[in-house]
Amino acid sequence: MSETTCITTAVDGRVATITLNRPEALNALNSTLVTELIEAALAYDADPGIGCIVITGSAKAFAAGADIKEMVDQSYTDMLTGGPFPGWGGFERMRTPVIAAVAGFALGGGCELAMMCDFILAADTAKFGQPEINLGILPGFGGSQRLPRAVGKAKAAEMVLTGRMMGAEEAERSGLVARVVPADELLAEAAKVAATIASKSLPAVYAAKDALQAAQEMPLAEGLRFERQAFAAAFATADQEEGMRAFAEKRAPEFTHR
Ligand code: CAA
Repeated sequence: MSETTCITTAVDGRVATITLNRPEALNALNSTLVTELIEAALAYDADPGIGCIVITGSAKAFAAGADIKEMVDQSYTDMLTGGPFPGWGGFERMRTPVIAAVAGFALGGGCELAMMCDFILAADTAKFGQPEINLGILPGFGGSQRLPRAVGKAKAAEMVLTGRMMGAEEAERSGLVARVVPADELLAEAAKVAATIASKSLPAVYAAKDALQAAQEMPLAEGLRFERQAFAAAFATADQEEGMRAFAEKRAPEFTHR
């Protein structure tokens, strides 16, 4: 395990885990933490030896939002020119799947970070919310756009306009999280799911992630064209032939990630 100022990182086989580590501030996303997180994630994304990334926090907080104390004196112009939080664009465009393993508070920028990941596994202690309205602002890392896509307009509007938090069970019922597990099993379950993803063909995983992303961004007809092209392209990989041959020969595939 290696430690920088505000995160720790660890690699196990083809799975990398980034742990947010500012316990004194409930993992509030200050500029140092965000810079370290994005740098670490992009480095793993560039490494073909890594097939899945897990981002997690502590038992009490995944992240309690952007760092309010750091933002208090920021101006309109500071925010327009990037403020203390540049670099999310690169994070959002990563090819490697990212799982958010969320226990405790995932609020404001913390909820938004979790939603930037491919999916969320939640502990039964997880609490999601966009409480920015209580601070005289609104979500700024994508919450007003991703939350309605995840839970529908009515629930998202209620949460963004009132600041109400949503517990893990409601979050699963509403489609915000993939699955809820007991808190003491969260990290083991996230590691298991990540290892499963990392065992698949890397080009197939990249393409599937891309197509799922397209579903969030494109109209249906365009998304279907995108998928058809990506599906055809999968037949240019060695892993497609290996995957199908292994099925026919009733054996496990040996993907070479080519
Ligand atoms: N920024 C800076 N510091 C934070 C923080 C944040 N977002 N959230 C918590 N902290 C700090 C607290 O100030 C406190 O520090 P001190 O001990 O130095 O006072 C420490 O973390 C522990 O917090 P609490 O004592 O408040 O813990 P609690 O258990 O009583 O309450 C909480 C937990 C309900 C999460 C509460 O801390 C809280 O409401 N936090 C703020 C949540 C929030 O408003 N998030 C949105 C931020 S804005 C944003 O994210 C914008 C965007 O979209 C990009």
